[in-house]
Amino acid sequence: MEKTSNQIKIFSPATVANVSCGFDVLGFCLDTVGDEMIIRKTTQKGITISKIVGYDLPFEAENNVAGVSALALYKDANPDFGFELEIYKNIKPGSGIGSSAASAAGSVFAMNELLGKPYNKTQLTNFAMKGEALASNCEHADNLAPALFGGFTLVKSLKPLKIIELPTPKDLFAVVIHPQIEIKTSEARAILPQKVDMKDAIEQWSNVGSLVHALHTEDYNLLSESLVDVIVEPYRSQLIPHFDAVKETSLKHGALGCGISGSGPSIFSLCKGEEQAMKVRDAIQKVYSQTSIDFEIHLSKINTEGIKILE
Ligand code: HSE
Repeated sequence: MEKTSNQIKIFSPATVANVSCGFDVLGFCLDTVGDEMIIRKTTQKGITISKIVGYDLPFEAENNVAGVSALALYKDANPDFGFELEIYKNIKPGSGIGSSAASAAGSVFAMNELLGKPYNKTQLTNFAMKGEALASNCEHADNLAPALFGGFTLVKSLKPLKIIELPTPKDLFAVVIHPQIEIKTSEARAILPQKVDMKDAIEQWSNVGSLVHALHTEDYNLLSESLVDVIVEPYRSQLIPHFDAVKETSLKHGALGCGISGSGPSIFSLCKGEEQAMKVRDAIQKVYSQTSIDFEIHLSKINTEGIKILE
């Protein structure tokens, strides 16, 4: 295949969706975990995936999350050349830290750069949602938005797609433990009730509102009080071994809040300051070390930039 010299290498970050109370609408972006991708223009038209390192994923563009979102943008842009994708996957699929979103957002972000940025971030999110839908059987943007916009985001609506960028308090750090088991998003969605109690709904939307206010005012106490999920966590936490012990330990060691990252099995804690985050990380690590389940643990500042261009 004849290639032009136009290529880009990017870091596509992991993300935490839901953020306890904000099921399907809130998310934030991590800085120390993510995939890398190289995208280059090709004289041959279409989307080709030439390399996938890390996990066993389909090479056919129409069966691959990064490929499906790339095809959606490609169809709209209709350039007289093609794109080749190399995917270096570090985020395990089914981890709950936005593995599919990193792939789906990464390909369209990089293609947009190579095309001279004809699309804004909301339009890119729309293309990426097609890829995300392949992984979870439904279109949602709460991992895609923080990956593309950075920081904390709120998905105000899907049709039309409206994303609100929220401020990130400067001392906020995240600890994410990833037990090495897989929970499929589609399965974690299937166990949720279709209706919720009015009492729970009131508590939940009060928490979302106060969490947004806390981010705007850098009110860490209010942030802590707001990181509560009375609707989804009671169901999904049963799928995650030792969730209660991790949460109890995290809060006991000073975390502002602790909950399920996306659809799990990863569990996130938000902490004020890096030192506090290190204490929480060490305490959680101790809990999981006593179990028979392998795990990875990450400490990260909040990534306010989102996807980064490496080369
Ligand atoms: N909001 C989605 C869910 C995120 O919780 O199902 C999936 O990563």
